[in-house]
Amino acid sequence: MSNRLILKKQFQSNTFTFGVATSSFQIEGAVESREESIWDRFCQQPGKILDGSNGNEACDHVNRWQEDLDIIDSLHVDAYRFSISWPRIIRADGSLNQQGLDFYLAILGKLKAKGIKAYVTLYHWDLPQYLEDEGGWLNRDTAYAFKQYVEVVVKAFGDLVYSYATLNEPFCSAYLGYEVGIHAPGKAKKEYGKKAIHHLLLAHGLAMKVLRQHAPKAESGIVLNFTPFYPASNSEEDAHATRLAHVHFNDWYIRPILEGEYPALIDDIPESHRPIIAPGDLDIISQPIDYLGVNYYTRARVKSDAPRDPILLPAPETSEQTAMGWEVYPQGLTDLLLQLERDFRLPPIIITENGLASDDHLVDGEVNDLQRIRYLQSHMDAVAEAMAQGVNITGYFVWSLLDNFEWALGYEKRFGIVYVDYTTQKRTLKNSAIAFRNALLSRQ
Ligand code: FCB
Repeated sequence: MSNRLILKKQFQSNTFTFGVATSSFQIEGAVESREESIWDRFCQQPGKILDGSNGNEACDHVNRWQEDLDIIDSLHVDAYRFSISWPRIIRADGSLNQQGLDFYLAILGKLKAKGIKAYVTLYHWDLPQYLEDEGGWLNRDTAYAFKQYVEVVVKAFGDLVYSYATLNEPFCSAYLGYEVGIHAPGKAKKEYGKKAIHHLLLAHGLAMKVLRQHAPKAESGIVLNFTPFYPASNSEEDAHATRLAHVHFNDWYIRPILEGEYPALIDDIPESHRPIIAPGDLDIISQPIDYLGVNYYTRARVKSDAPRDPILLPAPETSEQTAMGWEVYPQGLTDLLLQLERDFRLPPIIITENGLASDDHLVDGEVNDLQRIRYLQSHMDAVAEAMAQGVNITGYFVWSLLDNFEWALGYEKRFGIVYVDYTTQKRTLKNSAIAFRNALLSRQ
């Protein structure tokens, strides 16, 4: 089996951006130097996190950021995508935590010095708990609080940032956090999901205005996650259920942004589940974006269970799966990108996350994560295929730089191309990181 990664010709151009990605709560630790976030609170509730862990130490990145940036540099990537912890910036009394801001300014300064582009995500799920206490994303005011926070950050960062993403995967915040409750803040009511997403999308739109005003040179957009759906059989019922799943899980998030409207299905959902949409909201939400970030991990097959919601089937037993139990299905990424291209007038696309968890072990100083190398190869090839068929894709980021806190699943799922020993905090490049570096070095 090969432990090399080979870049297709689509990736050889020096305008294509390769990077690695992380997020604040998943790696930072140092919780005592910031406000509490909804994930801190969620982790305290028994049974919510599979291994009973929390983000208190995580990868201790707040103390080890210099070493982590040196690792990033050694990989020869063009860019680093990371997120800002809102509770590290704005205190409960509304004042600025200068120390928090300085932490990110130091990172940005060092990235600049190394010639690595900073891709900054303004919200990767760690809402300040003091805002959740006021209703969190079910409260329209949270969108305006986000706007204020973004203003502070963007004014301070100036032109150190190459690209901003307003939100990461608002689907997860709204649906997992407020509708099914498996993510923080752990609220679980069917009627909450669509209300929460409206306020998140409004926050995105308000932040876009701030970005245009204070960071006119930055590339600004949003990161969405997509699951391409496939019917479990040839029946008309399963085809219908598949279309429904697509509307609820994908279209609901992208259509308001690119078209200024919710899917027509909004008229069919119960009144009590509908968000309150103020006049002008959809105009705010649908301002032009410079790029669309696409996160892709796997596909899902759908079976009808009418009149109930469609059922998403587990990965077929015969398929290759990752440690998450997710099917390895690179064709899904090509299919997804082509479908987006058919359905919308798209801005340039960046693959802002792609990767897998595997059962990695450090043996004699080496982590031989061949499945990850294979996965990255087949998914990069899938991106190249979509490009060959005309989709404008300008970047690809591996999730993740480091093994880290994988939300409700804790630390057992290892997504990094760099192995983290959580007892010593020692970092070791996995073979996938070495393969990635060598592939990047092979570019002309
Ligand atoms: C995405 C998240 C990211 C990470 C990966 C595995 O949904 O954006 O933080 O957890 O999944």
